[in-house]
Amino acid sequence: MPGKTSELLPLLLLGLALGTQQALPPPCPSLVYCHGELLHQVQMAKIYSDDKEFVDMPMREHPDQVLQRFRSLSAAHNHSIPRDKVKAFVTESFLVKGQELLPWTPEDWKESPQLLYNISDPALRAWAEKLHKLWKDLGKKVKPEVGMEPERFSLIYSEHPFIVPGGRFVEFYYWDSYWVVEGLLLSEMPQTVKGMLQNFLHLVRRFGHIPNGARVYYQQRSQPPLLTLMMNSYVTRTHDLTFLRDNIETLALELDFWAQNRSVPVSLGGKTYTLNRYYVPFGGPRPESYSKDMELAETLPEGSRETLWAELKAGAESGWDFSSRWLVGGRDPDLLSSIRTSKLVPVDLNAFLCQGEELMSSFYIRLGNTTQAEKYRKLRDQRLAAMQAVLWDEEQGAWFDYDLDSGKKNTAFYPTNLTPLWAGCFSDPGAPDKALKYLEDKQILNYKRGVPSSLKNSGQQWDFPNAWAPLQDLVIRGRGRRTPWVWRVYDINQGQPGGGGEYEVQTGFGWTNGVVMILLDLYGDRLTSGTQIALLEPSCLAGALLLSLLLTFLPQ
Ligand SMILES: *[C@@H]1O[C@H](CO)[C@@H](O)[C@H](O)[C@H]1NC(C)=O
Ligand SMILES: *[C@@H]1O[C@H](CO)[C@@H](O)[C@H](O)[C@H]1NC(C)=O
Repeated sequence: MPGKTSELLPLLLLGLALGTQQALPPPCPSLVYCHGELLHQVQMAKIYSDDKEFVDMPMREHPDQVLQRFRSLSAAHNHSIPRDKVKAFVTESFLVKGQELLPWTPEDWKESPQLLYNISDPALRAWAEKLHKLWKDLGKKVKPEVGMEPERFSLIYSEHPFIVPGGRFVEFYYWDSYWVVEGLLLSEMPQTVKGMLQNFLHLVRRFGHIPNGARVYYQQRSQPPLLTLMMNSYVTRTHDLTFLRDNIETLALELDFWAQNRSVPVSLGGKTYTLNRYYVPFGGPRPESYSKDMELAETLPEGSRETLWAELKAGAESGWDFSSRWLVGGRDPDLLSSIRTSKLVPVDLNAFLCQGEELMSSFYIRLGNTTQAEKYRKLRDQRLAAMQAVLWDEEQGAWFDYDLDSGKKNTAFYPTNLTPLWAGCFSDPGAPDKALKYLEDKQILNYKRGVPSSLKNSGQQWDFPNAWAPLQDLVIRGRGRRTPWVWRVYDINQGQPGGGGEYEVQTGFGWTNGVVMILLDLYGDRLTSGTQIALLEPSCLAGALLLSLLLTFLPQ
């Protein structure tokens, strides 16, 4: 594979691809990390097994010098540099990945948070202690030089230390952080949470929205909007109204971005509603998955490639990268190249925003600003009506993604179909009971070890049989915390770590820790180590990126 495309390539092919279709702007201006010939030649040479490796490497000198040296090299080889020379160039011009971060032990970490005392089984408590200790391995802070010479790094400078997902991901991510924050608060670490919130608020002020993660190449796409929810968790625990008052306008700014840049009208039954979707009108392959996106595009006519790349980015913005959920209604719903994320109005996105609007309204009431409180109350009411009319299915008792092209709901099962319960955003008081019946009708409760991401085994990582930690939370807390569950780790079929993604399963996934802590908090007094959970090392559990934090129903 390597070499095959790199011989025909670069400018010619790119030029053709862009020439036949309106070119979309690149995901960021950087000619090293986001677009251009250097990125193209390096990524297509496939020096590393994972394209993310290269775009995470800091430059040894100013990008102008790196680019200048690259241009001479490329010209000398007629714009097709042999692989070994590309490799030598990268080694000479870049530092190895991870140099810009320092390990950091959270200062508010303590030996024995109350959470541990609430766990009755000693073996389970010992296991939870190990889990609590993992925060110390996932803490990172950015070296000051990144702030002083930002152009040499793809990492976006953040003033405050943070918790990273782990493994391949050494920077922080947007929606992951919601579950990390919940876990940190249960570990009684509000100072760490405050710093993470400050980093996010800074991103909103700088970019007008929160990028997918703290790298320049993620700049033009966001992720499920959970900042307002994180603020709520922090304020509920700390009563820090000063912090809320100081930052409420920045929270409002983030919601404005979703209203202005991600909303879509839906006409139905003679009425027009406004709802939200994931949508990233920026072109080119994703820099961190460049060669994969390039090769996928080569299976399509040139005129369709920019659209494909924009839809892949929208898929990444959804957090579900990737899933058959975004392929429905496409030319061939078994092929990733059919992706059409922006044509669907997702249940979870609208439920998250609905909760955000509700929280903004209550924040403003607490701060004594009734005008603003009223504004968000109204926005929430409009969204509730739109969700009821467009997404809710009375007959089935669930909400479904709405297809803007066909005007129909996608009635396939996804745990996100129940997000309005989790978010407390529904107008039909009978919805919780109907939704429980929906889960039973679909026999979802028969998956003894957890709720799968979908019922379609597509080979994509957000599909059957993978069960992701945050989706377990959506369903468990969405069901009103009525049923105690026990979880195990592993994919729901074979009891193996999940697969099918862009990366291997790895240790230390922050959001899985967070979800486990939520469950320990809810059920720690009732669970016993008689279940398999306590036999597993936390590193194995937390490793559970794809994997699965899994659940078994216990009879009450
Ligand atoms: C939102 O869209 C407007 C154009 O409608 C654009 O000028 C602005 O840059 C966009 N904001 C972000 C953060 O993408
Ligand atoms: C309410 O908030 C808005 C927007 O931040 C601000 O312009 C207005 O002055 C505030 N009103 C009061 C009474 O604080």
